[in-house]
Formats: sequence, structure tokens, C-alpha cells
Amino acid sequence: MSLAQQRILIIGGSSGMGLASARRLIGAGADVFIAGRDAGRLQAAVQSLEGKAVGIAADTADPASLAALMDRAGRLDHLVLAAGGTPAWGPFAQTSAEALRRAIDSKLIGYWQSLQAALPRLRKDGSVVMLTGAASRVAMNGTAGLAAVNGGITQMAQTLARELAPLRVNVVSPGLVDTPAYDGMPAEAKAGMFAAAAKSLPVGRTGRSEDIAGAVELLIANTFATGVLLDLDGGARMPL
Ligand SMILES: NC(=O)c1ccc[n+]([C@@H]2O[C@H](COP(=O)([O-])OP(=O)(O)OC[C@H]3O[C@@H](n4cnc5c(N)ncnc54)[C@H](OP(=O)(O)O)[C@@H]3O)[C@@H](O)[C@H]2O)c1
Repeated sequence: MSLAQQRILIIGGSSGMGLASARRLIGAGADVFIAGRDAGRLQAAVQSLEGKAVGIAADTADPASLAALMDRAGRLDHLVLAAGGTPAWGPFAQTSAEALRRAIDSKLIGYWQSLQAALPRLRKDGSVVMLTGAASRVAMNGTAGLAAVNGGITQMAQTLARELAPLRVNVVSPGLVDTPAYDGMPAEAKAGMFAAAAKSLPVGRTGRSEDIAGAVELLIANTFATGVLLDLDGGARMPL
């Protein structure tokens, strides 16, 4: 399907994989709206897209702000859910239920209420793409909280692919991707983590936002794709 003039909202579109998806979809001729909480970050993102997207501030934790976002965006053909959350990282024994609750609220419930808010505006046979995370697909120490949240989203998406049909609902599960999500880490720790991950992967490198953007475009454009879980993780699931 051609994406020309398709109206696509990317929540979490002001940074990382959401922003790369915006760039890619604009390149395919789509009319793109990007949303995120921080107005300054949105403005910078719109500038980096040469003004070819509309930026709208919204918080997936706040139903009123989601309703206002949908009012501004109007009729939609496709929705991309790429907002980050507050992940519950760390060894199971030391990760509190409160940390897990925050993680569920910020990502799983965030995606849930974003889709609920968008549904009345979303073309009946349009599509939704949700970004989850490889921690729910590969057993790694210290990622039970990430697994719980992203695994929940994956399962919810597969049920919705049936319940909301003919709307198509698909998931991309990224492995480690170098995005501003890691800007808060000390540079040396970040470099060490990415180098170790690259060494362990069959592809010999970690992900780029553009790798994921290509998959987002594919799942939107391919009208035979629904209920798909696309692992884009450099082969992280392959046993060593
Ligand atoms: N990077 C990785 O290695 C990796 C791996 C697996 C999965 N993922 C998942 O992939 C998705 C994209 O990650 P990324 O690395 O591209 O993240 P990123 O660069 O940190 O971008 C996150 C985007 O989400 C927006 N956002 C965060 N919380 C929001 C909220 N409550 N309401 C609305 N917008 C919100 C941010 O803008 P504001 O902060 O201004 O709101 C920003 O636009 C996330 O769901 C992440 O969990 C990432």
C-alpha cells in the first residue's frame, strides 16, 4: 500500500526510534504527526524533519492530554506507539513492586489509553504498530520488569489484532538500539554496554533507530500483516 497522504500519528515521535520512523514515513509521502511530553524536544524534532511533521505535546499518562492530542490530530489512518516509559531494571530480588507498578503505568497503561483515545479517529481498516522490547523475548538477568511490561503489551496486541479487526495491530520488538534513551548513562558505562552487546550478537553490532523505522513502515504498508511480532534484535534470540 502506498503511504502517500496517509495520516500517521507517532506517540513518542520526538526522539529515537519514533523520530526515525517519522523521518522514514515522511519520506514515503505520509502526513505525520509526532507527540511527546516536552514541547522543546518536539520543536527540535519538527525542525530536524524540516518542518514536514506536526508536533503536538501530550502525555500518555494523562487521558485529558490524549483527548486533546486526538482532537488536534483529527482523522488518522495509522498509529505508532513508541513512547518510552520508566523501566523497572534490576535484579528481581531488589526490584520493588512499586517500581514495577510505575513501569506498567508508564508504558503498558500508556499504550493502552493511547490506543483507546485514538480508536474513534482511527480508520477502521488502518493499523497500529507498538514498540515493545527484546527483554520480553530473551531471558536476561535483571530484566524481569522489562519482560513483564513488554510481554504484556505483546500479548495484548495479539488479542487486539483479532478483537479490533479489520484494524491491523502489529508489534516490533527491538533489541538494544542506540537512542537518546541512554543519554543519562555515564559515557563509559554506555560504551561498555553497547560494545559487549555488539560482540554477543550474530550481526556484530547494536541497533540503529533506522533499523526499526524500516520495520514500522513495512508493517504499516503491508495490508496482509496483522498479529505480527517482528523481532529486530540483531539475533539476540539465537543461542550462543
Ligand atoms: N533504545 C532501546 O535500546 C530500546 C530497546 C527495546 C525497546 N525500546 C522501546 O522502544 C521505544 C522507543 O525507545 P527509544 O529508545 O526510541 O526512546 P527515546 O529516544 O527515549 O524516545 C522516547 C520518546 O517517547 C516520548 N515519551 C516518553 N514518555 C512519554 C509519555 N509519557 N507520553 C508521551 N510521550 C512520551 C519521549 O518524549 P518526551 O520525553 O518529551 O515525552 C520521546 O519522544 C520505547 O517504548 C522503549 O521502551 C527501546
